[in-house]
Amino acid sequence: MIPIKGLILSGGKGTRLRPITFTSAKQLVPVANKPILFYGIEAMREAGIRDIGIVVGDTKNEIRGAVGDGSAFGVKVTYIEQEAPLGLAHAVKVSRDYLREDPFVMYLGDNLIRQGITPLVDEFNREKPNCMILLAEVPNPSEFGVAELRDGRVVRLEEKPKKPASNLALVGVYMFDSQVFGAVDEIRPSWRNELEITDAIQRLIDHKLDVRSHVVTGWWKDTGKLEDLLEANRMILLDLPKKVEGTIGADSTVEGHVVVGAGTEVVGSVLRGPLIIGRDCRIEHSYVGPFTSVQDCVQVKDSEIEHSIVLNGSKIIGIGARIQGSLIGRDSEITRPNRKPRCFMFMVGDSSKIEVL
Ligand code: DAU
Repeated sequence: MIPIKGLILSGGKGTRLRPITFTSAKQLVPVANKPILFYGIEAMREAGIRDIGIVVGDTKNEIRGAVGDGSAFGVKVTYIEQEAPLGLAHAVKVSRDYLREDPFVMYLGDNLIRQGITPLVDEFNREKPNCMILLAEVPNPSEFGVAELRDGRVVRLEEKPKKPASNLALVGVYMFDSQVFGAVDEIRPSWRNELEITDAIQRLIDHKLDVRSHVVTGWWKDTGKLEDLLEANRMILLDLPKKVEGTIGADSTVEGHVVVGAGTEVVGSVLRGPLIIGRDCRIEHSYVGPFTSVQDCVQVKDSEIEHSIVLNGSKIIGIGARIQGSLIGRDSEITRPNRKPRCFMFMVGDSSKIEVL
């Protein structure tokens, strides 16, 4: 049996998560304190894939720094450079030398699929269709590639249609054999000037090749937008086992599923899970509520936060109101000094969003 390769797409721009993505790849934003990209690598490994190509763009050094040669995940990683984000089908084109004639699973590096991909990869391996796609019902199909089915078979695919033919979105996991290379050579750039994988799959259908689909029943998220990222964070936190390595003072309470990393000190505070706090943080006279992920070396003092993600090295001090639904970038400071006159003072990066409610 020919081993299936993996292809993870980790280039692109990440405009919808700016300003975080001005300084960091969107695939490395953490969900439950683990970069989104790592979930994809782990899902591939679990499905028996050992040889993974990662398509990288401007953020290649950061992705390489985080993933290395793949040995930490038990896989071998090859980096494939894409000169510009010219589309998912373009990413397949530039990966041709790496993929050769081998069947492969393509995984969008900002997608998360809770149930993993193992049964789908097994079916692809066993039955050898030319292509397998995953679909999921969504309330906002025009933001995705959309499939039209007839008698259970895909007849038409359209990328981000204004008038969607169904509510079935293409999930960011695709399986192909080498027929896909002919299809990507045939297509032309779309209105958004990208070579769309959706158009390439439509070519496979038009050529009467065997294109199968599966509707995903568990949850799946494209984490490109803040709301989706926070929701993915909520879902993953629900599955984390309780583990406290840091020090919880006798004057603090811990409720529900809570993970606290080594070196973290919790003083006079309430931690209400599910939540995760990384290493070497200090949580003092504060409330950290459900569905919150706090990375390493973060200080929270005299403040309340829930349903949020806080990245490494940030400080949240003396905030009178509860922070929620927030993504706080690395080394940020949100404080409330005891000075007059009372006012808002901001030093905010480009494309930031602040809501004062
Ligand atoms: O998430 C599912 C959706 O993903 C599908 O429903 C759509 O049919 C599909 O086109 C795709 O849509 P997006 O607009 O969300 O794709 P995005 O530009 O966010 O790119 C997805 C991933 O691929 C992301 O990790 C960046 C990477 N990428 C993207 C492009 C355009 C590349 O590596 N190279 C590229 O040229």
